[in-house]
Amino acid sequence: MTFGPARRLLCLGVAIAGSFGCARGSDDASAIRKLDRRTASRATTAEPIQPLEPLPPEPEPLVELGRSLFHEKALSGDGSVACSSCHDLANGGQDGRALSLGVAGKRGEINAPTVLNAALNIAQFWDGRAKTLEDQVDGPIEHPLEMGGDWPTIEATLARNPKYRSAFQAAFGAEPSRAGVKLAIAAFERTLITVDAPFDRWVRGDKNALSAEQREGYELFKAAGCVACHQGQNAGGNMYQRFGVFGNYFQDRGNITKADYGRFNVTHAEADRHVFRVPSLRNVELTAPYFHDGSAETLPQAVKIMAKYQLGKTLSDDQVTKIVAFLKSLTGRTLAAKAPGAGAPT
Ligand code: HEC
Ligand code: HEC
Repeated sequence: MTFGPARRLLCLGVAIAGSFGCARGSDDASAIRKLDRRTASRATTAEPIQPLEPLPPEPEPLVELGRSLFHEKALSGDGSVACSSCHDLANGGQDGRALSLGVAGKRGEINAPTVLNAALNIAQFWDGRAKTLEDQVDGPIEHPLEMGGDWPTIEATLARNPKYRSAFQAAFGAEPSRAGVKLAIAAFERTLITVDAPFDRWVRGDKNALSAEQREGYELFKAAGCVACHQGQNAGGNMYQRFGVFGNYFQDRGNITKADYGRFNVTHAEADRHVFRVPSLRNVELTAPYFHDGSAETLPQAVKIMAKYQLGKTLSDDQVTKIVAFLKSLTGRTLAAKAPGAGAPT
């Protein structure tokens, strides 16, 4: 990823003022407006949200193996759940539930984020506990509430399947292995970049790609200070921030769980309590319900809660409608989200 001047300045603003950088929404807003004026004559990618580009291509046999494994229920303890059960690529890369359902219908403790564009996030999971997509794979496979699988059984099952044996040979020249499963799934996930969103076409110069309402929504999104946290190619995913900069979201909601501690669970630093990796807003219209607790059922609800707890602001219904219209312009196309094709291992 590139760190353009606009991006650096915004990151710096957040870094210096900490969470309060976002608090001083109007200061931020005027800084951003000045920045916009200064950069107006330069490349349009100086916008704080930049167009998505596909990642460098991965070897085809590796991606196809990863695609099959992503849809493979044999990776779960009772053969009932695949990655795709909770990350439906035809449904925004998530499951549409507040909390996921794993093996034997067990209810999880946190909302399933999308796998679309996850490759661009600084780290994986709401609390960032997995550094890479490869590392992330162990999480769901071994989690008793998700897939409840174990690696020796998975390796043995795949090694008994002639189609997987030849797919692993094609990808790695080796027998099925835990390391191979992780590499292949991660390679497949890196192909799940959504391109060609109306917003991206607009940034690249197609002035008709956004409606007037969406353009106003984008201006509001910047002026209100949302962009201090939701920025970069992924409109998020590149920093950690507290949920509840203004007011105590968790006290107001009640029933605090361990999942609500966020990054504290990883670092055990008091300053990280209720801090989360800022989620990407790419394709956000497809990924309701929202937040790590799945508590916001609609985008207007999520936007109002964000304005209140992250910026200390009350937005009018009209402003919310415009911001939501802008957010819908972040929906792109997946080039690679098809299910495993005929002839692929099943
Ligand atoms: C039972 C539902 C379920 C299954 C099955 C499942 N996931 Fe997930 N996935 C989740 C939940 C819930 C989270 C969030 C967990 C957290 O942050 O603590 C998640 C998080 C992720 C993330 C991180 C995304 C981000 O933005 O941080 C990736 C990537 C991912 N899963 C990929 C996979 C892969 C690959 C598999 C199969 C090996 C898989 N998942 C299986 C529910 C599931
Ligand atoms: C101080 C940083 C910060 C600011 C400012 C901010 N957000 Fe967020 N946003 C977050 C964090 C952190 C989360 C994740 C909260 C959670 O679920 O734990 C989030 C979550 C969201 C979500 C839900 C995404 C999902 O997939 O669940 C939406 C939508 C959203 N923000 C929109 C906005 C809008 C619109 C604004 C401006 C009105 C805004 N945000 C301002 C940090 C911020």
